[in-house]
Amino acid sequence: MNLKIPRGSTYHKITEEIKDLYFSIFSDLNNQKIINQFEEKFATYNGSKYSVTFPFARTAFHYAIRSLNIEKNSEVIMSPITIKPILDVVILNGLKPVFVDLNKNDLSYDVVDLKKKITPNTKLILITYLFGIVPNLSKFNKDEFKINNLKIIEDFSQCLNGKYKGKKTGNFSDISIYSCSSIKTLDTYGGGVAFTNNKDNFRLLKEFQKNLKSPKRFFLVKKILINIVRTVITNLFVFNFLTYYILRFINIFSKNTKMLGERDKRPIKNLPVSWFQKYTSFQAQKGIQSLKNIEISDNIRKKFSEKYIKGLKNFFNFPIGFDKLQNIYWQFLIYVKDPKELKNKLLKKGIDTSSTSLEKLNKLPKYGFNFQLNNVDEIYNNSLFLPCFSKLKEKHIDKIIYEITKIKEQE
Ligand SMILES: Cc1ncc(COP(=O)(O)O)c(C=O)c1O
Repeated sequence: MNLKIPRGSTYHKITEEIKDLYFSIFSDLNNQKIINQFEEKFATYNGSKYSVTFPFARTAFHYAIRSLNIEKNSEVIMSPITIKPILDVVILNGLKPVFVDLNKNDLSYDVVDLKKKITPNTKLILITYLFGIVPNLSKFNKDEFKINNLKIIEDFSQCLNGKYKGKKTGNFSDISIYSCSSIKTLDTYGGGVAFTNNKDNFRLLKEFQKNLKSPKRFFLVKKILINIVRTVITNLFVFNFLTYYILRFINIFSKNTKMLGERDKRPIKNLPVSWFQKYTSFQAQKGIQSLKNIEISDNIRKKFSEKYIKGLKNFFNFPIGFDKLQNIYWQFLIYVKDPKELKNKLLKKGIDTSSTSLEKLNKLPKYGFNFQLNNVDEIYNNSLFLPCFSKLKEKHIDKIIYEITKIKEQE
């Protein structure tokens, strides 16, 4: 069993990406009919009435805040673990971020801390689904909070096709957002989509979309090239003979365990212009094609996750959410005391693991934040992703379980 296993991969085939690179250079990027078609199909797919495309999920979030008319200076309940641009959008819209501790079982807000942090000035709750786990959504019952004009936005970028009581995530709020960025389960070389079931919100979002600038072909081509590199270096054959040895070499010097490496931690003064270029019809066409394949890869990942849960339950705890059958397990996370030690041991056995590239926002010194949130520290510092993507085979998962069992038995 000398297979080498990468930490993750894109959801595209390399042949498909090379074709995409070629066509992205020549095709029309501004065909609104195709964009509308994708929006209709994606909305229907998600069980929502409407969807509107933007260049990023962060842009969709920005316009969701505008569409919902959230008053300046009001407080926004948000996850301390997410991408930094979401925080930048909150701050640059004149709103105040309030970080709530998370629950280790569902990676969503701890109910006691949530109730403590909600004040009459709270006007928005952002529900962020982390790593494809669906929490008990009854904790977001608006009537219980007794606040006028309280709005909810879901960020289900990591949880497309997750369900709560049979209904898909992205349908439990005023507006929800999804990111079609690289390695997401619906990846269109970037892009963000806002979903809503409310016609007025839809009209406002469409109006904002109309005013975006024309897309730059260069950005699209660059994204496809980055995806090609990711797909090639994580290809099982290439990984076995090349990438794995490079990683082992890098690992001697680098302490970085993050999935996609480190990201910039500094605040920004303005929202960059590159966030405000239209989503292209080329990406929309890619989205229409990709919608057909998501469930196949979801099912493979879900099957692998079940295997992990069964095979490793004596050694680790995992976030399980409200109903383990309705999670989507975008990443498979285990809680472990010393993730670096386990990572190193596994790497020697040919298995590459990683931790999240998301930021721990409550501890960003350049923003002046230093709030202690105990569970967040544990979720962030004491966890590791095991490889769990649909390009793997069952034999890979068996090998990982086997090697971990051996390590644990020797401890
Ligand atoms: C929870 C979450 N929100 C938003 C995003 C990113 O969205 P975008 O890069 O499209 O703005 C990501 C991507 O990693 C994410 O994981």
